[in-house]
Amino acid sequence: MHEFRVPGVIHFGWGAVEKVGQEAARLGKRALLVTGRSAARRTGALDKVERSLSASGVESVLFDRVESDPSSGTVDQGAAMAREEKCDLVIGLGGGSPMDAARAIAAMAVMEGSILDYLRGKPIDRPGLPLINISMTAGTASEITPVSVVLDEERRLKFGIKSPLWFARVAITDPELTVSMPPRLTAATGLDTLTHAIESYLSTRATVPTEALAIKAVRLAARHLRAAFRDGADREAREGMAMASMTAGMAFANSGLGLVHGLVHPLGARWKIAHGEACGRLLAYVMEFNLPAAGEKLAEIAAALTGRPEASPEEGIAAVRSLVSDLGVPCGISDLTISEEEMAALARDGLLSGSVKTNPRPVSESDSRELLERAHRG
Ligand SMILES: [Fe+2]
Repeated sequence: MHEFRVPGVIHFGWGAVEKVGQEAARLGKRALLVTGRSAARRTGALDKVERSLSASGVESVLFDRVESDPSSGTVDQGAAMAREEKCDLVIGLGGGSPMDAARAIAAMAVMEGSILDYLRGKPIDRPGLPLINISMTAGTASEITPVSVVLDEERRLKFGIKSPLWFARVAITDPELTVSMPPRLTAATGLDTLTHAIESYLSTRATVPTEALAIKAVRLAARHLRAAFRDGADREAREGMAMASMTAGMAFANSGLGLVHGLVHPLGARWKIAHGEACGRLLAYVMEFNLPAAGEKLAEIAAALTGRPEASPEEGIAAVRSLVSDLGVPCGISDLTISEEEMAALARDGLLSGSVKTNPRPVSESDSRELLERAHRG
């Protein structure tokens, strides 16, 4: 038996952001609008959303304080604001950080205590305020999934927290909003998408529907990511990557991920590396590690990456390495200064994430250490 969940409705396509007003009006009268500090305003996306909301008679209160990698404190502040302002829905607008924060804020607006309690294992026992998430990147797919990554400020560790109660009521994936992403962000978010697709396909919880979505996302990313990176105005490439992100999101929301998504949290938190870039740096190494347990599936991924049905798993891994380096991202972590102690902590903390449980090959602390040392040698 297995379940397959997605948001209540997904609006996909050029101009889909204009749907926000009519959708919000069905969910409430007063929305907390959660964004980052600048991109939504600078690109005009915030303006579009505010206009659509007011045309539909929905009031909005702006919470534009989400930093990259939202902290527990920011989530608690946003939830307090949603309560004080008597908001009856939450709208997230941006990349992964604002959308993850919006989900956690919607949840904490109706739950007691701090998000820290839930990051540390307190059970999530009720749905939050209704949530609309609007994506401005093609990577995290946080509009599609029930996952939020939040930084535990006291322990300086990032944790993914999720609940089947946390799917957005409405997800909006509008390629138009991704056109303004600079190349470096296109690369990082695109590598996040590729990693979601590959880890979902290999996951021990993969099912026929999640595999179908994941392998399609691998093909889309292989076809469109370089073009979107080279020319951000390439509409076909932007649409292809938005579709890749959405389909990979539908897949991994239901299958879980793998070891890359365990290792990147401590790496990102300590060395301030963007999530997607950290994924790109480690993806080929984790695929190599998984080879003994998932050779057949890695051959299928290789075929999707290269367009050649007879491609070997090793050719798939080489295709990932060349894509990562074409996007200007180092393959591995040899450029980072990492002490013995830090390496041991990385290997240990990288296994804390639930993503590791669905990796196709079981991982011990010494496996994780060996893999990281290989990536550090480059
Ligand atoms: Fe990710």
